[in-house]
Amino acid sequence: MKHIRNFCIIAHIDHGKSTLADRLLEFTKTVGARDMQAQLLDDMDLERERGITIKSHAIQMNYTYQGEIYTLNLIDTPGHVDFSYEVSRSIAACEGALLLVDASQGIEAQTISNLYLAMNNDLVIIPVLNKIDLPGSMPEEVKDEMVDLLGCERDEIIPASGKEGIGVPEILAAIVERIPAPKGDPNGELQALIFDSHFNSYRGIEVIFRVKNGRIRKGDRVKFMNTGKEYIADEVGTLGLEQVPKSVIECGDVGYLISGIKVAKEVKVGDTITELDRPAKSAIQGFSEVKPMVFAGIYPVETSEFEDLREAMEKLQLNDAALVWEPETSAALGFGFRCGFLGMLHMEIVQERLEREFDMTVITTVPSVRFEVITTKDETLIVSAPAEMPDPSTISWIEEPFIKAQIITKADYVGAIIGLCMDKRSLLKNQVYLTQDRVELQFEMPLAEVVFDFFDKLKTISRGYASLDYEFIGNRESTMVKLDIMLNGDRVDALSAIVHRDKAYEWGKKLCEKLRELLPRQQFEIAIQAAIGQKIIARETVKALRKDVLAKCYGGDISRKRKLLEKQKKGKKRMRQVGNVEIPQEAFMAVLKIN
Ligand code: GTP
Repeated sequence: MKHIRNFCIIAHIDHGKSTLADRLLEFTKTVGARDMQAQLLDDMDLERERGITIKSHAIQMNYTYQGEIYTLNLIDTPGHVDFSYEVSRSIAACEGALLLVDASQGIEAQTISNLYLAMNNDLVIIPVLNKIDLPGSMPEEVKDEMVDLLGCERDEIIPASGKEGIGVPEILAAIVERIPAPKGDPNGELQALIFDSHFNSYRGIEVIFRVKNGRIRKGDRVKFMNTGKEYIADEVGTLGLEQVPKSVIECGDVGYLISGIKVAKEVKVGDTITELDRPAKSAIQGFSEVKPMVFAGIYPVETSEFEDLREAMEKLQLNDAALVWEPETSAALGFGFRCGFLGMLHMEIVQERLEREFDMTVITTVPSVRFEVITTKDETLIVSAPAEMPDPSTISWIEEPFIKAQIITKADYVGAIIGLCMDKRSLLKNQVYLTQDRVELQFEMPLAEVVFDFFDKLKTISRGYASLDYEFIGNRESTMVKLDIMLNGDRVDALSAIVHRDKAYEWGKKLCEKLRELLPRQQFEIAIQAAIGQKIIARETVKALRKDVLAKCYGGDISRKRKLLEKQKKGKKRMRQVGNVEIPQEAFMAVLKIN
């Protein structure tokens, strides 16, 4: 145990965690130059393309320091707020953290929130000033910020560049010197914290854990304390670039377990593994279920593909335990699924994975947060889709989820950001100058206002100089109403939205305008109406198409005609026919595009 170091890298998104991790792996020869590719740990295609880390990863390195060999377990964590639950579990598996700050950006919202997480878990923090190679870097200013924030000495901060490999030996030495070896009782009852899992279609779910007490041997009978499920440890091992099977994983170390688990839901990040024959008295503290925050319907474009979609969702869920879903029906779209996501990014990723990995073409409906509706009969209904909203006459009051949002920005943009937040029904709770030019703002605001387009708006009005982090703080009463959309007189349930009463008229109007832009013209006129209950509050019309699109070809060239038809077919990809109106995917998201 004396020679083990468990650490993670925490940083604001894009401050260079994955790149630095690559350098550490290279320097310790964990990967040969031949196998090296950029952002090695981000092994999902989607992660590579988007340049973001979605899943946490763990990898073991050996490092010789002053003649002794150390085992370093690196746990790479995602930076986006949608995946912060993974960060918190990864942090719980470590004794230390490298805190990276981009020398050209300075401290951002997730630098602070991740730092607090790490400090709450008593991790030793090694401050690293990253990207010092950038021409725009401001090493001295950013060091000032770091000293202020951490209360550390200036010379504790290691200047580095993941890109150029600067500072890598210093960082490795600091990991050994500054981070304590794990504590724990090697002979005690087994307690291993699950902090990650992967799906392997041949071997089932691979569980990644950190042994806090005791040891775990191949062939042991084990129990997951929160789910109560029992398994045999068919294989245990450590995580190099590939898995290395071992006969035992000792106290303090990080490893994987394979035991024929087929369903991701049985593996809960944060759960504790113990030995069945000699169980621990209690589970490791701090386990909480991941809570989905955003809900939306997912429907197949072709109604006949419903069963295929179900199969795809089941498979995807094996891999993504944070995804929850159940079947639902929509009058407009037929059979589909109501899904819960951690946030909008998670939702986009699920949609994209369904399309890429399972070849499904799907329509997602207007996202919504989860409301609690207290009825006149004193019942509490959970409503996460507009269609579930009961008749207004039966509602006593409605509660919606609120968050505490923390925004860090430059002083110049404070006014604009406060304006934006006020418009989002927020309450300014605090305003602190971190340095002369950098301000931290704290708001309480409805989650519904953040999940939609808030991020984009914030970026625009601050020219990119604002970062956001938030946490759920509870439900509060709000006057929400259901806004219905009718096309040629028929209510299209998949287009309705739940909005605040004060904004309902404006939204109805804007939504109709937006839909007019987004609905393709057809052979007949389409009336778009917005209604609250029986009352129509806005109307727009999509004019009928005058000529057949083929008329443009003047009857001539057949190959051109075919091309045009092909083009139309492609355009149809993500469309749904509702009544006699064709609705493209964008229309279902129109509510997100309203200014
Ligand atoms: P997430 O996983 O999405 O949280 O991002 P990350 O923190 O892992 O950042 P990543 O390593 O993906 O780097 C983000 C971007 O910064 C990439 O375009 C990198 O090429 C670039 N980058 C990383 N480190 C350095 C550095 O030291 N210098 C320079 N100039 N660029 C860097």
